[in-house]
Amino acid sequence: MNLVIASDHAGYGLKESVKKYLAEQGHNVIDCGTNSEESCDYPVFAKALCKEINDKNAELGILICGTGIGMSMAANKVKGIRAALCSDYFSAKFTRAHNDANVICLGARVTGEGLALELINVFLNTPFEGGKHLRRINMFEE
Ligand code: RB5
Repeated sequence: MNLVIASDHAGYGLKESVKKYLAEQGHNVIDCGTNSEESCDYPVFAKALCKEINDKNAELGILICGTGIGMSMAANKVKGIRAALCSDYFSAKFTRAHNDANVICLGARVTGEGLALELINVFLNTPFEGGKHLRRINMFEE
């Protein structure tokens, strides 16, 4: 799968671990930064990731900041982006199945690496169910 990932300084360490995991799984990953733990502004990186999805260079994206909240707020301002902040397995699965989320947001200061990788795994491997769920998405995408 073609994927895109980005973080701020708080999410940098987890981003690097996630990149390694995704490469081992055979995914192609575009990295929109940041590239160190030096303090930076998360909206810059959220915007860059959303562009890659809207330009169809990636099917799904992963955004990481301290809580995941700032990244999800910023990403959801971009038309066509459906970003879901997840810290539990059920939400990571059903935001794909029912919301056709195209970005998962994670909080590196909230969710440990082991759980983060599991959340990403189920997010990437759950198909959208379509049907009535597509009708509902269309209602807010218009
Ligand atoms: C950075 O300190 C922190 O505010 C940021 O990573 C994020 O949690 C914002 O929502």
